[in-house]
Amino acid sequence: MTTIHVAGAAPYDVEVGHGVVERLADLVGDVRRVALVHAPGTTVPLPGYDVLDLEVPDGEAAKTAAVVADCWERLGAAGFTRSDAVVTVGGGATTDLGGFVAATWLRGVRVVHVPTSLLGMVDAAVGGKTGIDTGAGKNLVGSFHEPAGVLCDLSYLRTLPSRELVSGLAEVVKCGFVADPEILALVEKDPSAALDPASEVLAELVERSVRVKAEVVGVDLRETGGTDRHPGREVLNYGHTLGHAVEKVSGYSLRHGEAVSVGMAYVAELARLAGMLDDETAGRHAAVLGSLGLPTSWSGASFDDLLAVMRVDKKARGATLRFVVLEGLARPVVLSDPSEELLRSAYEAVS
Ligand code: GLY
Repeated sequence: MTTIHVAGAAPYDVEVGHGVVERLADLVGDVRRVALVHAPGTTVPLPGYDVLDLEVPDGEAAKTAAVVADCWERLGAAGFTRSDAVVTVGGGATTDLGGFVAATWLRGVRVVHVPTSLLGMVDAAVGGKTGIDTGAGKNLVGSFHEPAGVLCDLSYLRTLPSRELVSGLAEVVKCGFVADPEILALVEKDPSAALDPASEVLAELVERSVRVKAEVVGVDLRETGGTDRHPGREVLNYGHTLGHAVEKVSGYSLRHGEAVSVGMAYVAELARLAGMLDDETAGRHAAVLGSLGLPTSWSGASFDDLLAVMRVDKKARGATLRFVVLEGLARPVVLSDPSEELLRSAYEAVS
């Protein structure tokens, strides 16, 4: 088991390892009641607690105002107090939703996340972002509410569908390019080990990715900006500006990580064409992502359609379109409003 500390105003630990869910009671602490927000088929043992079972729909279908309102009603009917705690168990959508319920009930109660997907472990459950979707898009309503702890039990990955595991690896590779190149070296050395849920390689990849995320959010929880040398939490959006647009325009037929993979191949090309990134590092993107079975090209929509979606995405700021790009390995910077010609040429290279 490895413990990764997340610093900040409300510090907490993330435990990574096989069987760490056994530590749940230690993290939930001395409360009487637990509201267990979980996807169908995923629960955890909570002996000795009075458990309020809040089963929610699987996946993104949980992230609606109606599901939140239903949880609030059930917490109200049960007389759930500030001295009680929420536990979330499931993929990134479940921890986002359950985190939001915990953030809003009585203006915030204790929450412990038990992510069961790779995406949940390396991204969604760490860093305090919670939220739900609206008709206009994903994650448009939410808040920052840091958990009391996160348990990344790698045993859950053994039953994760392979497409989900591969999709989650896109966020792992992202951490490699923006902060920890050893992640890239580990994948390059043995991509099949990275895809093996029982391997020590995957365990190390999860630990390293959580460490990257912990360091970033420990400095810039609210994504208000980092330091002179680092753009802050926004670096976690590497590949996401185009990725979100691809995800949306594809009608969510691409998994999040698949779309982000295309988005990373795109920003690598964008940085290369802008004269910011060398050919070798740019080309390494498609090689590493491709070795894991992730897509690095996509031609499901015209560039104009994608540009229109990117302009209204929440990752744009006002009228400014922003892309996290690299000036070198682990040297992320923000590129604001590149020319349309450059944006279009980079898309031609990945479509
Ligand atoms: N998923 C990006 C972030 O947590 O900021």
